[in-house]
Amino acid sequence: MKTIESSIRAIIKTDPSEKKNIGTFTAIHTNPLVNKYLYSYLNKNLVDKKGYKSLVIFEEVIDKFFKELFQYEHGTTIVTSGSTESVLLAFHYAREQARDKKGITKPNMLIPEHAHYSLPRCAKMLNIEVREVAVTDECTTDVEDARKKVDENTILIVGVMGSTELGVIDDLVGLNQIAAEHETGLHIDAAISGFVIPFLETNIHYKFSQLSNLMSMNVSGHKFGLSLCGCGVLMIRDKRIIEKYAESIDYLSSGAKKMDNFMVTSSALGVFSMGTNIMYYGINGYKNFAKEYMATKTKLLKGLIKLGWDCYAGAEYAPQLFIYGEDVEKLSEFLELKGWVQHVYKAKGFKHAGLRVVIKKGSETRLQHEFLDDVAQFSNFGTKRPEVAAWKVQHIVTPPVTLEQ
Ligand SMILES: Cc1ncc(COP(=O)(O)O)c(C=O)c1O
Repeated sequence: MKTIESSIRAIIKTDPSEKKNIGTFTAIHTNPLVNKYLYSYLNKNLVDKKGYKSLVIFEEVIDKFFKELFQYEHGTTIVTSGSTESVLLAFHYAREQARDKKGITKPNMLIPEHAHYSLPRCAKMLNIEVREVAVTDECTTDVEDARKKVDENTILIVGVMGSTELGVIDDLVGLNQIAAEHETGLHIDAAISGFVIPFLETNIHYKFSQLSNLMSMNVSGHKFGLSLCGCGVLMIRDKRIIEKYAESIDYLSSGAKKMDNFMVTSSALGVFSMGTNIMYYGINGYKNFAKEYMATKTKLLKGLIKLGWDCYAGAEYAPQLFIYGEDVEKLSEFLELKGWVQHVYKAKGFKHAGLRVVIKKGSETRLQHEFLDDVAQFSNFGTKRPEVAAWKVQHIVTPPVTLEQ
């Protein structure tokens, strides 16, 4: 038994610490109450809601919170396993409705070039033609290009509130205007910013009450909602769509069940942790977190620029930044040696490759000190930045400060 346990421990140890994973949006913070009661939900199946009433209660907490923030009182909230499932469902419901209401049998959808890959993927899986909309010099969706590509078979126009790679926010009002002119719907992908923008003072119009044609919107719980992995939300303006198109199954321990989501057997940890977070932190808690992300972002940007790095800050309210410039590949390799999980990539619409730093709850102090110190250490090698392989060898035998400057 001991040997198996030590083997398992050794396997687990092959991973770096998630605390230094700055490249992902996945939350690293755990609410203390989630930590305490986690074991009550390890083996519960989310579909068994008739048996496990607490799951329904947590879903109701999530529903109330989202309705208050996004103002869709006549709509419905579907709790899912994440934004990908939410997007798949949103596109599915839009397609079904467009076929029955408008007789659209060859649906298309406008999806911007900078959208997360899951969006075109879901559309294609549903046999919906994807019309890619170009991005502007500011790396946001080109509204004029959307205007050129929309037609009578367009069932949804997609706008992004917080893009994955660069953290930009589309002109949602402009896209909504086109949707209104063509009597079609707008879908907002707020996977990232859905738990940030509502808690900051901004002039961004993102609520159902502000955008006449906003039909649906997805948010990930496991990003800035701080839930454990496996929680997303889909908000739908008109609940009648679900009443009409959701199917029912006779589930063994739960009797007949209306399935507005897609997954059947799934972990209850996402819903439990999301509901608990909302109850524990509330709107004020999330407001404080969002303020902290922005303050950290400002300090990081200042620090990085001082060290000579170019940074793309994305939208003012995006909890992320993109470092680029000569030697960014070498910087990335150096950071990897220091345990920072990230990598260099080419962002759509942006001509430089770079690495994304995500500012998350629980990483603010580490980013401002340990991370900036590591970047400084690399940067201070000046024009004689060593090859990382050489640095690695020297680092093993001597501390890096002894390297020739
Ligand atoms: C903007 C955006 N949309 C959708 C997704 C997919 O979300 P999920 O990982 O919750 O399925 C992501 C994932 O990072 C994302 O960044």
